[in-house]
Amino acid sequence: MTTNSEDLTLVLGATGKTGSRVARRLTAVGHPVRLGSRSAQPSFDWEDPTTWSGALDGVSAVYIAYVPDLALPGAAEVIGAFADQAVAAGVRRLALLSGRGETEAGIAERRVQGVDADVTVLRASWFNQNFSESFLLPAVLSGVFAAPAGRPEPFTDVEDIAEVAAAVLTQDGHAGKVYELTGPRSLTFAEAMAEISAASGLEVRYQEITADEFRAGLESEGTPPELVDLFVYLFTEVLDGRNSVPTDDVQQVLGRPARGFSDWAREAATAGAWSAATLPVH
Ligand SMILES: NC(=O)c1ccc[n+]([C@@H]2O[C@H](COP(=O)([O-])OP(=O)(O)OC[C@H]3O[C@@H](n4cnc5c(N)ncnc54)[C@H](OP(=O)(O)O)[C@@H]3O)[C@@H](O)[C@H]2O)c1
Repeated sequence: MTTNSEDLTLVLGATGKTGSRVARRLTAVGHPVRLGSRSAQPSFDWEDPTTWSGALDGVSAVYIAYVPDLALPGAAEVIGAFADQAVAAGVRRLALLSGRGETEAGIAERRVQGVDADVTVLRASWFNQNFSESFLLPAVLSGVFAAPAGRPEPFTDVEDIAEVAAAVLTQDGHAGKVYELTGPRSLTFAEAMAEISAASGLEVRYQEITADEFRAGLESEGTPPELVDLFVYLFTEVLDGRNSVPTDDVQQVLGRPARGFSDWAREAATAGAWSAATLPVH
């Protein structure tokens, strides 16, 4: 089925990195959107299932971005329960944002793929915007990004993810598909820092440290224990090289190549992503 201009789409994580862009793109082409987050009206809270029915009322499609991370223990059960409720409420199309090469995320994917609706999985590599809008921004601004992340990663631009999400939510031909969304080439974190330095004028460098040093650093900063485990998992397993090869799935869906890291870094610098006043958003 093709969604039409009367179909209401619920966009979760609606003020976040991907959701805000998905909502903007759908709105721009005339599709009605309901924003889904704790600050939206009606409010949607992953931790409070009593808020789900209000957000789902009258909705025919949902963009699912689970927060904080679908690789966390218990996430698959929550996402699965939400997907069941969505289908029972009349939702016919779901796009699930997932993480490339994450075993835990695969459990959530299979759970959502099991519901009676058109499901598309958007399995993304690491976001460029982690360096400009998210948890890696403080490290970039400090001038040193220290991590156990020596392997290359085909960082992806969340604008590409959002454009693909808007396409699969509104066009036929994507039901049952799993798209692996990456940038056009792999960079090491050292190369990524060099690109950001060149674009921003800041001096930012990558420093290789062990997983134990990384864990100790996170703990000394007061990072909550479950997030310490998540970050160590992401850096030591997801970034062990298993995801280093880029795909052409962005090209397959959008008919144009994925956006490159250098172009993104230049535009982010011009937009003030790394200006002195910049503070992390999420
Ligand atoms: N970062 C990466 O490199 C990467 C790569 C692949 C996949 N992913 C996946 O991407 C997903 C996150 O997507 P994102 O980066 O677009 O999100 P994000 O930027 O972290 O989004 C935060 C959004 O979630 C909302 N939110 C926070 N807590 C909430 C709660 N308890 N209930 C409902 N909404 C809540 C926030 O709004 P309110 O404050 O108003 O609630 C905001 O709209 C994760 O599942 C992660 O595994 C990330």
